Amino acid sequence: MSIFEQLGSLTAVKKLAEEFYDVMETDPEVIELRAIHPGKLHSSRKALYKFMSEWFGGPTLYGEQYINATWLELRHRRFCINDQQRDQWLYCMNKAMVNLQYESKLRNLMLGRFSDMIKSMQLQRRHVEQEKAEQMARIR
Ligand code: HEM
Repeated sequence: MSIFEQLGSLTAVKKLAEEFYDVMETDPEVIELRAIHPGKLHSSRKALYKFMSEWFGGPTLYGEQYINATWLELRHRRFCINDQQRDQWLYCMNKAMVNLQYESKLRNLMLGRFSDMIKSMQLQRRHVEQEKAEQMARIR
């Protein structure tokens, strides 16, 4: 059963994206993460909702070619995705799922998926930075 089927509907995915950003907007534990997001979160909320719908096996609202760590890392290139940012992002997602009373089995499965995606983005970032450093070394 896909995660989308377990969530049950697009409305459930939208609720999760909204709750995630509500936590980010109100919880003092994540001020560093909030600070790198735009003042208004309207388009961030929409983008995460569409991304999650497709990534979890639901309607393809985001664009098949973009649902991967390489593209997602590219879209996050201008932001720091260090361990503090990772922990604050996962904190918001976990708290959102607790607030929406997700069963712990589904919540842990989804946290694992998000955590793996962040790990892949961090690895991709390291790879890109290493390539850049090697290029610079070759130029010198
Ligand atoms: C270290 C963890 C992460 C940080 C610090 C982070 C931060 C950000 C920031 C600051 C934006 C820009 C928001 C805007 O301009 O509207 C963004 C966009 C986005 N993030 Fe993340 N994010 C993280 C992890 C993730 C993960 C795990 C996912 C999905 C599984 C995700 C999905 C997205 C999507 C879909 C966008 C919109 C991209 C676009 O269309 O340009 N992010 N993120």
